[in-house]
Amino acid sequence: MSDTVYIEDLGAHDGATVTVRGWLYNKRSSGKIAFLQVRDGTGIVQAVATPGDVDAATWELIGELTQESSIVVSGSVRADDRAPGGHELGLQRLELVQMAGEYPISPKEHGIEFLMDHRHLWLRSSRQHAALRLRSKLIHICRSYYHDRGFVLIDSPILTPTSVEGTTTLFTTDYFGEPAFLSQSGQLYLEPACMAHGRVYCFGPTFRAEKSKTRRHLMEFWMLEPEVAYATLDDCMDLAEDFIEHIVQRSLEECKEELEVLERDTAGLERVVQPFPRIHYDEAVEILREAGEDFDWGSDFGGGHETVISKAFDRPVLVHRFPAAIKAFYMEPDPGRREVALAADMIAPEGYGEIVGGSQRIHDPELLLARLRQHGLDERNYQWYMDIRRYGSVPHSGFGMGLERVVAWICGLPHLRETIPYPRMLGRLRP
Ligand code: 4AD
Ligand code: MG
Repeated sequence: MSDTVYIEDLGAHDGATVTVRGWLYNKRSSGKIAFLQVRDGTGIVQAVATPGDVDAATWELIGELTQESSIVVSGSVRADDRAPGGHELGLQRLELVQMAGEYPISPKEHGIEFLMDHRHLWLRSSRQHAALRLRSKLIHICRSYYHDRGFVLIDSPILTPTSVEGTTTLFTTDYFGEPAFLSQSGQLYLEPACMAHGRVYCFGPTFRAEKSKTRRHLMEFWMLEPEVAYATLDDCMDLAEDFIEHIVQRSLEECKEELEVLERDTAGLERVVQPFPRIHYDEAVEILREAGEDFDWGSDFGGGHETVISKAFDRPVLVHRFPAAIKAFYMEPDPGRREVALAADMIAPEGYGEIVGGSQRIHDPELLLARLRQHGLDERNYQWYMDIRRYGSVPHSGFGMGLERVVAWICGLPHLRETIPYPRMLGRLRP
């Protein structure tokens, strides 16, 4: 019996005979030699066989093997510079676990709807595999960033009685006879927690019933949100800048193979170093007008506007002090100019849009109550949130980073649907 190993570890077994358990990714064979591309989730290795290496039944089986059949192969590990991963396998034994039926996804081009319908199988394709591995590594990098800096993880609830980011994008469920909403953001629950722990963060799925079909919107997406007591808007922008620089630079180091599979030109990502430009909303409006956009002061940016603004800079740009009227109820007004809010969005380069949205929060109880009323929110559901302004209220700030937007940007994927294992979009709940 030979050792069972993962393909990514083959390098440590040069010259040994090993077993790999996986699936047939691709096959080329003439009557004299067969090349089997075997994948096991950690990589792909080429197993090479001639009729002299294996028994007659195995040679016949190799001829019949279909794409994605599950197989266990044993053979000797040989270094080969031309092989992806640097090693190939001299095949000696092959055991069939299951002969796969005709696999729907062949190397030929398929339409996107077909691929989305077969997302459960599409996950096996090399680009999808690379994007989701990068996502997994990025999540680890993000969590470590906060953990290493003393932030406490506070998991916020998913079922909530309150809205955070407006009432038009709420998913409603029935909570034993009373309506409950799927969380749009963990923020309201982080604010109390930062008064207990100083620096906190949450990271989980969030939900928005966005009734538009765009490449930048999902109904269910993951958001990482830090919240810091005593932090001002400037502190919040400093944190966002340091965090984004850190995760981009770490991804470049830790995800080289994935970025290669995705054929990502990383020059733009290498430039993601501090300081990032910071511009007032007024200046962003100027940039839009100079680019020939017909844009009214007081409007919110659409995806197209964000792309125009991002093109004026070579790295992410922070736009701060948006008109309060287009922003959420909880944002602190600028004391020098109360019609603008102490809020900031970070817009990614290359047209990937808003990746971070944050603000300083209102800490005055009277003002917060007035804002709740202005926004037509039922103050009875926010009494607990008001308590944070009654018992030792302090300025505090935080932001939310949309994970899928950042994965799309780092991977160079134009649409969010490939950045999450099972995307939830307008008109798509399956698989
Ligand atoms: O700007 P947003 O709505 O901010 C909040 O939810 C705040 N409560 C966060 C906070 O201050 N703690 O969302 C934050 C980020 C956006 O910048 C964007 O990257 C992402 O979440 N996002 C979405 N990503 C995918 N699909 C959607 N429908 C998204 N909506 C927001
Ligand atoms: Mg936003």
